[in-house]
Amino acid sequence: MAATRSPIFNVMERAARKAARSLVHDFGEVENLQVSRKGPADFVSTADLQAERILRAELEKARSNYGFLMEESGESAGGDGRHRWLVDPLDGTTNFLHSIPHFCISIALQRDAEIVAGLIYDPLRDEMFFAEKGIGAFVNDRRLRVSARREIADAVIATGIPFRERGDHPSYLKMLAAVMGATAGVRRFGAAALDLAYVAAGRFDGFFEIGLSPWDIAAGLLIVREAGGFAGEIDGGRDELKSGNVLVGNTALYEPLGRLLRGAGSPASAAKTG
Ligand code: IPD
Repeated sequence: MAATRSPIFNVMERAARKAARSLVHDFGEVENLQVSRKGPADFVSTADLQAERILRAELEKARSNYGFLMEESGESAGGDGRHRWLVDPLDGTTNFLHSIPHFCISIALQRDAEIVAGLIYDPLRDEMFFAEKGIGAFVNDRRLRVSARREIADAVIATGIPFRERGDHPSYLKMLAAVMGATAGVRRFGAAALDLAYVAAGRFDGFFEIGLSPWDIAAGLLIVREAGGFAGEIDGGRDELKSGNVLVGNTALYEPLGRLLRGAGSPASAAKTG
């Protein structure tokens, strides 16, 4: 992976691998807690916080003046003013909580308004997805490329399904029904960062979800784009990092998928999540 071994990749990789060791250790414990009356919820939130502390310490050690936007501890400005890390220490928390082996760490580096590097690490499969702006996207030693599928009828599309009070369920169901009727299948795996990485890897042909947070998607959006895919808002806008209203796809299917979703309902009204 010579092309990806930039200093910034090394910093992000070191942090991700160290936090991942802690997560994998704790994932082993979670299985035992499923049968306890209280369940593993408190344990998992401690595991999540511990991973975030490790990531922060490692990233700070390497770049002491960068800011942070982290899922658990929120925003903190850095002395540098131009750079900040967007970090999700555990994407796929509900999976983790239920001992479902599908979760990851997501780290993005933002310079001014732009995401310039993104890393998504799935520790159980040891898959390290990484992209740097203008350099390309990789998984471990392999360059990533979105799928070449051209027919929506052959496409497998990933999504995130809103739950409890999050999102406008009826609007979402209309979009889901449209995609179900037009494609080869819909998948809901439960970790948005990995959904994006899988589009970059050509495993999924597209992905949509409403109301995601910047730390869920910042790294994945860059990885998709650097793998040759397209990304934007479902309603056609370009503010997906802010709205969290995300559509990505391969070059041929991004537009048809967007038309299908827009024809089905109003993603803007569905976008308000808790
Ligand atoms: C969640 C996952 C999930 C998505 C949710 C996110 P978290 O992130 O990415 O796939 O459907 O909307 O909140 O809470 O596990 O970091």
